[in-house]
Amino acid sequence: MVIAIDGPAGSGKSVVSQRVAQRLGFHHLNSGKLYRAITHQVLQTAGTSNDSSTIVAIAEGVEILPADGGLRISGSFVPDAELHGELVDRHVSAVSSVLRVREIVNALLRSTATKGDIVVEGRDITTVVFPDAEFKVYLDADIESRAQRRYAQQAESTPEEQRSSYEEIRNAIAERDEADRTKEHGALVIAPDALYLDTSHLTIEEVCDKVTTTIQSDKIQQEN
Ligand code: DC
Repeated sequence: MVIAIDGPAGSGKSVVSQRVAQRLGFHHLNSGKLYRAITHQVLQTAGTSNDSSTIVAIAEGVEILPADGGLRISGSFVPDAELHGELVDRHVSAVSSVLRVREIVNALLRSTATKGDIVVEGRDITTVVFPDAEFKVYLDADIESRAQRRYAQQAESTPEEQRSSYEEIRNAIAERDEADRTKEHGALVIAPDALYLDTSHLTIEEVCDKVTTTIQSDKIQQEN
């Protein structure tokens, strides 16, 4: 069974996907993390090159394996903090816009889905990668709530002198929203058959409860 979850940056996708997977005993896959891993490898081997044939050659040769607290990328451990660092943040949009890179990531996601039940999150999971997923969710939140969440997360994880202001975070999210919604391939759109949840005024637990109870009541209806 595939549970597909899409939504913009800061909508709570990652933590909700992880917890829903945990509750249901499913595997969890974060497609954004795969794009970040490829971007990291591009930055390591070709610097800030935006040349698409270089990016494709690197994406075709990279090996990405799960690891505690990060990923093992072509043999080297890369911690989550680095995958979510400013440099990767700045380049991931360009790398994830290359069609062949998207095909590589999508093939990896689909082959993982053949091995067991999964919760997969991203931007185009409900529409392009798994249009026939058994259950689809679109998580949304207004930009102020999303920026507040990222601002609060930063206070927990980043030394004070390296923190961005609320306005900088809000502007960066607005830029990513624009890039995500207007990209030629894999743009973020709301699938008409997805459960739409505005999480602006909900806690993580409330969102997880809504998702899991809807999945369970859907299952009961399908069985009857
Ligand atoms: O979810 P995230 O913010 O970690 O995603 C990182 C980047 O990858 C973001 O710029 C959007 C892009 N992405 C994508 O194009 N398609 C996906 N399915 C997931 C992420």
